[in-house]
Amino acid sequence: MKIIGTGSALPKRIVTNDDLSQIIDTSDEWITERTGIRERRIVSDETTVSLAAEAGRKALENAGVHAENIDLLIVSTFTPDNSLPNTACAVQRILGCRRAVAFEMNAACSGFLFALNTAYAYFSLGVYKKALIIGAETISKVLNWKDRSSCILFGDGAGAVVVEKTEKEDYLFVQYADGANGEVLTCRCHREQNIWNDCQEEKETLWMDGQEVFKFAVRKVPECIRELLNMAQLSAEEINWFLLHQANKRIIQSVAKRLGVKEEKFPMNLEHYGNTSAASIPILLDEWNRQGYFEEKNKAILSGFGAGLTWGAALINF
Ligand code: ACO
Repeated sequence: MKIIGTGSALPKRIVTNDDLSQIIDTSDEWITERTGIRERRIVSDETTVSLAAEAGRKALENAGVHAENIDLLIVSTFTPDNSLPNTACAVQRILGCRRAVAFEMNAACSGFLFALNTAYAYFSLGVYKKALIIGAETISKVLNWKDRSSCILFGDGAGAVVVEKTEKEDYLFVQYADGANGEVLTCRCHREQNIWNDCQEEKETLWMDGQEVFKFAVRKVPECIRELLNMAQLSAEEINWFLLHQANKRIIQSVAKRLGVKEEKFPMNLEHYGNTSAASIPILLDEWNRQGYFEEKNKAILSGFGAGLTWGAALINF
């Protein structure tokens, strides 16, 4: 499987750490030091569907692929605009991917990676040949803007890739889930309505035990990357880039250290966008592609980790 095009879309509105310090008890210094984040994009008139469609349109254009040639369209998100129709079908309608089967996947910050693995599984079975894989989020709508330990971390956005089946065995992945420990990062939807109860609807909000999530990430990410390297019979030095989910600069630095790999091999853009969950890896891939880093024969490891708990890594050849 090969990535043949990338795209991304970000809301217009930029919210800096100083802007947040006007509404909650925080500071640019605290946020930058603990997370590496300086600003994030927050939706005004954009939606999960509009961002996803824009990123998808740019990826198709970048790949030089017509929408009607896409067989599979997956959108990964935990912040859809609506439950039905699913986000991928809404995007399909806008882009005109009429031949594609379209569905949504939720594996939080691992979602894009799991969607990519799903496309690979279909390719391996010979079912489909071209897929549009999108990660899109509007997390700002589920944040508790009074909780300074979580609301400063996240941002909105979307990223997309067009992938194509190849004859070579040039993609490998590992992926995991651990529902038993899922309570450390939740986004509850308190809706109770049936014929006996009146509708009681509260706002859906995200809650996180930051330190537990931090410990989980710095333990599991190096572990699964090592497993992937063993499977591929490669050393970490043979990998050109490690493109990780952009949650926190300190998590990425710690993973680099544990793997004994120079930090320069771990590109980061969380300074500008914060944690955009399923969108973070494809946004980074798009920036990397457009800066000319997708050179022939380069190898990259992608790694996602987040709520569920879910995590995994994939090796991709350019
Ligand atoms: N501004 C100022 N002070 C703050 C803020 C803030 N925004 N948030 C918390 N504090 C305070 C706390 O109240 C606490 O004060 P106290 O000592 O008086 O009690 C102090 O700072 C230290 O708080 P900790 O929670 O111990 O801070 P920590 O160093 O653990 O950093 C953070 C918190 C940034 C959330 C960290 O735990 C983290 O990055 N965790 C990973 C979580 C993550 O990245 N989640 C993303 C979603 S999941 C995913 O994508 C994997």
